Amino acid sequence: MYKLLIRRILFWFDPEKVHYFTFSLIRILSKIPGVSLIFKSLYKVKDRRLETEVFGLKFKNPVGLAAGFDKDAKLYKELSNFGFGFIEIGTLTPKGQEGNPKKRLFRLKEDSAIINRMGFNNGGVLEVVERLKKNTGVLIGGNIGKNKLTSNEDATLDYEICFDALFDYVDYFAVNVSSPNTPNLRALQDKEPLTQLLQTLQNKNLAKPKQKPILLKIAPDLTDDQLLDIIDIVKQTEIAGVIATNTTISREGLQSQNKTEMGGLSGKPLTSRSTEVIRFLSVKSNKAFPIIGVGGIHSADDAIEKLEAGASLVQLYTGFIYEGPALVKAINQKILSRM
Ligand code: FNR
Repeated sequence: MYKLLIRRILFWFDPEKVHYFTFSLIRILSKIPGVSLIFKSLYKVKDRRLETEVFGLKFKNPVGLAAGFDKDAKLYKELSNFGFGFIEIGTLTPKGQEGNPKKRLFRLKEDSAIINRMGFNNGGVLEVVERLKKNTGVLIGGNIGKNKLTSNEDATLDYEICFDALFDYVDYFAVNVSSPNTPNLRALQDKEPLTQLLQTLQNKNLAKPKQKPILLKIAPDLTDDQLLDIIDIVKQTEIAGVIATNTTISREGLQSQNKTEMGGLSGKPLTSRSTEVIRFLSVKSNKAFPIIGVGGIHSADDAIEKLEAGASLVQLYTGFIYEGPALVKAINQKILSRM
């Protein structure tokens, strides 16, 4: 039904407008008595065997919604009714910002992919905290970044502001230094600034009575040497783990007309590279830390491949757009069928 009808109609229109339209639709539908229950019964797979504990957190199932979809935490409760075990909000910055000029989101239909150059459009971390205060039981990851106008020299303070503001309202943190759409952000993935950033956040964390897991979200475009550096840094700073991967700047093998748009590419063309990164980190670190696998999961088999490559949890974004919410259920069912 989703691919045959709903997707066909939605794909006629501008992708960003469709995003906000679907948001409003899900919100309005969810307010109708009984509709949330219908969504839950259609898409949630309730089975204790899916429950998993990773970095000290208990997940109802290992399939999450990746960052960028519900940046401002406006719909996490309704989205969790589609069967997700966790929702990552953000990327959030200290001050609200518009992001890049529109058009900035492009479908690559022939490639089952998306290119985006949103540029961390969000309402600012404080606004989001107010929404999260109403959370009753959705496991939330808080993805944090820096404002566009903050220089890399001052970036740590931006991450600290977001960390402090969100600390009581999220279950884990994702430190995003891998978006291609904030100028020079990915230079923060270099060994020295990254160690300094993560150590600062981890020191803040350790000063708290109870710590929250801090994860690092990395790009798929890092070299093997850079990935080895990442392993060292994760071990040295003793953060909880890695999210692999963000979108890519590669344009290899694309068919669609929109392939020349600037920004980060997600979806099917990313599947094998992100799995490769997961496998590399898992093998070379000797499974020293948990990995959340994300990038081009469009089928249950894609998710299983990531879990087998060493991921403890998976996340989707583009696959959710192309395949619809049935994908979340299909992954959970496949995991159960293999037990
Ligand atoms: C993203 N992604 C993203 N990641 C992040 O850490 N912060 C963000 O704000 C965003 N924003 C964003 C917007 C859009 C429109 C897309 C398509 C993606 C990246 C996302 O979380 C994920 O890492 C990649 O898209 C790869 O997964 P998929 O989409 O191939 O499943």
